[in-house]
Amino acid sequence: MSVRPVVTAGHPALRTPTRALTPEELASPDVQALIDDLVETMRAANGAGLAANQVAAPHRLCVIEIRGVNPRYPFFPELPLTILANPRITPLGDETLEGYEGCLSVPGMRGLVARHARVRVESRDRHGQRQDLEAHGVAAVVFQHEVDHLDGRLFTDRLVDPRSLVTTESFDRWVRDEWLESVRTAGWPEARIVRL
Ligand code: NI
Repeated sequence: MSVRPVVTAGHPALRTPTRALTPEELASPDVQALIDDLVETMRAANGAGLAANQVAAPHRLCVIEIRGVNPRYPFFPELPLTILANPRITPLGDETLEGYEGCLSVPGMRGLVARHARVRVESRDRHGQRQDLEAHGVAAVVFQHEVDHLDGRLFTDRLVDPRSLVTTESFDRWVRDEWLESVRTAGWPEARIVRL
């Protein structure tokens, strides 16, 4: 396993929709090693998720996890390690959440994005088994952010207001407390990943 370099906004891989994996590709030693490296790279960089094209790999593959208190998102609850091959997202209901997102490929910035509060995620696990999940709250936000990567989109494409784009320093100093209060007031659904 190794930590791979994460590419940043402007790299063409981030704007190229990824390709679905065939069962043979998913089972291959190269892609299995890529999965291990995505997990190691995400953990080393304190990400909440990482998509394959963020390390310039062309596959429709991403990983998600929040372990303990994540230094980049100390206000987020833990989420179990989840590996998604060929994910497809469907919204559940009309409720949306406005969250300040960050991205390892857009270093040093945060911005406000509206996401579905609950989603269904159909995918394959690393062994090629069908994996149907429901994600709620913060988990739904992270899944939508990562699947956007796989479609060639960044969170900055979806800002509810371009003026919400702030540096992490300004976020901590000027934005964070007020936003967390709005999250409490809005009553976000509990962060959950439900296996169906
Ligand atoms: Ni990202």
